[in-house]
Amino acid sequence: MADTFRALYAEQAEGRPRVSLVSLTDEVLPPGEVTLDVAYSSLNYKDGLALTGKGKVLRKLPLVPGIDVAGTVRASTSPRFRPGEQVFATGWNLGESLWGGYTQRTRLGAALLQHLAPGLDLKRTMALGTAGFTAMLCVQALEEAGALKSGRDVVVTGAGGGVGSVAVALLAALGQKVAASTGRPELRDWLTSLGATSLVDRAELAQKGPPLGAERWGAGVDTVGGQTLATVLSQTAYYGAVAACGLAGGADLPASVFPFILRGVKLLGVESVLAPMEQRERAWKRLGELLPMEKLDASTTVVPMTRLLEVAPDILAGKTRGRVVVDVNA
Ligand SMILES: NC(=O)c1ccc[n+]([C@@H]2O[C@H](COP(=O)([O-])OP(=O)(O)OC[C@H]3O[C@@H](n4cnc5c(N)ncnc54)[C@H](OP(=O)(O)O)[C@@H]3O)[C@@H](O)[C@H]2O)c1
Repeated sequence: MADTFRALYAEQAEGRPRVSLVSLTDEVLPPGEVTLDVAYSSLNYKDGLALTGKGKVLRKLPLVPGIDVAGTVRASTSPRFRPGEQVFATGWNLGESLWGGYTQRTRLGAALLQHLAPGLDLKRTMALGTAGFTAMLCVQALEEAGALKSGRDVVVTGAGGGVGSVAVALLAALGQKVAASTGRPELRDWLTSLGATSLVDRAELAQKGPPLGAERWGAGVDTVGGQTLATVLSQTAYYGAVAACGLAGGADLPASVFPFILRGVKLLGVESVLAPMEQRERAWKRLGELLPMEKLDASTTVVPMTRLLEVAPDILAGKTRGRVVVDVNA
């Protein structure tokens, strides 16, 4: 009998992608130097879009979704990776046009893979995944812009989500005062335990205000976009900066130029999918060093791959808290 493995597989059905749990054999694995026994993947906002068919995330079918993957090398023709080593990959269009992580076995190019960062195991690497990596990129962008020196509050929007919660914990670890913006007041205790020093009702930031408001924030990490990003920009203090990475609340930006030209505020775009390897290695090393692991563990829910299709709509509905790790062997 052929050696089979389980995967979530997206196929074209009646003109649109349909994802189901299937049993596959090695013959369908894509080309690549490294074959992996996958341990964990994760659920990101983009994965929610792919699994529910709501966004145009899946650009090639058939395909295994899941933008993050971590596992053990099963076979390798690359001198960089040996059987038995633990490795991972995030982004790179995995789960979009290349096979992603919702599978017990995969094959991919060695250039996309990294060894685990010191201090992180396979599960915690996926507890971070694209969301945690992106949070680190946002924080580093603020540091490089010199925006974390003012002593003012740093606002994080969508604080209850994956990117937001890791950003709260990272900024707190850097000694920043963190204002966590959330639509879920019931998350207060958890956000405070991550290091938030105050909570902001997300409805407050979603309201249209003056083009320049009172100076409230030294810096910001925005995962929401839309009016929320416009409001945060208008309330950012002289020479502050806002790292924008998300659109959980909208893709438009109904802002004016006043924060930029009258206060020198910087809007920093953050993109994680095609980040160069050097930037990845630096950010992941920093994540392993800076993030208190007990905070990450307290923000992680593990979901078996067999139940992922049921859970996927929750991330789009803003119902998941922190990060969701996917156990592909359960
Ligand atoms: N640029 C990149 O490379 C990159 C990488 C990763 C993620 N992203 C983007 O960043 C965003 C967050 O990703 P994630 O994985 O952290 O998702 P997530 O876990 O779902 O977090 C998003 C959070 O945003 C808030 N939210 C949800 N719907 C909202 C709405 N309609 N209005 C205002 N706030 C809302 C919720 O937080 P509260 O309940 O606390 O308010 C939710 O938990 C997504 O848009 C994602 O596509 C971009």
